[in-house]
Amino acid sequence: VAWPSTRLTELLGITVPIVQAPMAGGPTTPELVAAVSEAGALGSIGAATLQPDELRAAIRRVRELTARPFAVNLFAPHERPEPDPDVVEAIDAVLAPLRRELGLPEPDRSGSLVPPYPFEELVDVLIAERVPVFSFTFGIPPLDQIRETGARIIGTATTVADAEAVERAGVDAVVAQGSEAGGHRGTFDEGDGPPLVGTLALVPQVVDRVGVPVVASGGIADGRGLAAALVLGAGGAQIGTAFLTCPESGIPDMYRRAVLEAGDVDTVVSAAQTGRSARMIRTPLVEELERAGVPFAPYPAQGALVFDFWLAAAELDRAELRLLLAGQATALTRSLPAGELVGTIAAETEAALAGGASGR
Ligand SMILES: Cc1cc2nc3c(=O)[nH]c(=O)nc-3n(C[C@H](O)[C@H](O)[C@H](O)COP(=O)(O)O)c2cc1C
Repeated sequence: VAWPSTRLTELLGITVPIVQAPMAGGPTTPELVAAVSEAGALGSIGAATLQPDELRAAIRRVRELTARPFAVNLFAPHERPEPDPDVVEAIDAVLAPLRRELGLPEPDRSGSLVPPYPFEELVDVLIAERVPVFSFTFGIPPLDQIRETGARIIGTATTVADAEAVERAGVDAVVAQGSEAGGHRGTFDEGDGPPLVGTLALVPQVVDRVGVPVVASGGIADGRGLAAALVLGAGGAQIGTAFLTCPESGIPDMYRRAVLEAGDVDTVVSAAQTGRSARMIRTPLVEELERAGVPFAPYPAQGALVFDFWLAAAELDRAELRLLLAGQATALTRSLPAGELVGTIAAETEAALAGGASGR
């Protein structure tokens, strides 16, 4: 590809300025990650929902498939409080009619609603395995030990202030995540609601304020988008939704169908499914919870409150009962094999930057 290398490509040892977004919860299989890295971009394992032995196995599998660099991504650890019983009761009351309709039993709320997050053990794995790149979201985790391994480090920001904080923590690059992005908002502290600055506005403001390379993220799915990101001053783009529908992606068919059917207005930012704001496909379950106007439980307990619906989604083959994280660019996705998608976006970007064709 003829475009000049960027500081980002040099930093990461890649030839195409694309980072395949880490997507926790299944999509980023070792096959997807390795195919992306083999094609010259940076594949990323979304590891935040893996157990340490699963992460070790995933890293080793990627290494069997490619010798190129790849990333492992974790969520910064946070307090994970048990929810207020009144909140649990109110949400269960909203969901009771839907449970009856689906024949789901009343859930047992006697145990903990907070699944463990073995952050330190996961970090031990990525240190022992000497992963080439570590990326993170939701704040700033301890970085010293990881930095000592020589790993490149990438942090996520959804505002200029968060980007500056990530840079101060000593990262090598910052992902500027605009509000079009699928998945959780990387915002450190959501306060009364997540900031929703769009990619087009956020990227140049972050570029103006930080010295490290910036990776544009959110709503970018083809060469037009990547070219725009580069023109805005980014060193590359972190792309999630467009990789969800690749054959190597680990999502069930019903999720894949839902992404392929979703149009520009079919996603919403909601905390209804996990307790933290995330962009997802607007489904009746999300709408029902939003309309009820009840407060949601904190992350990740809210996810436990609706988990029986996620399980039922698989059994009943009803995608709309599941958490369907996806961004605003669903309609731009193509179901190409991941390596081909990287090559196609690279060629489109080159055309767009040369001012030719449509760039798609
Ligand atoms: C299904 C899904 C899961 C995601 N999981 C993560 C994650 O585990 N860690 C992370 O840093 N970002 C995660 N993201 C956000 C991406 O890193 C990225 O910001 C986003 O996908 C970019 O927007 P796009 O989906 O429009 O390409 C996820 C996104 C999606 C769509």
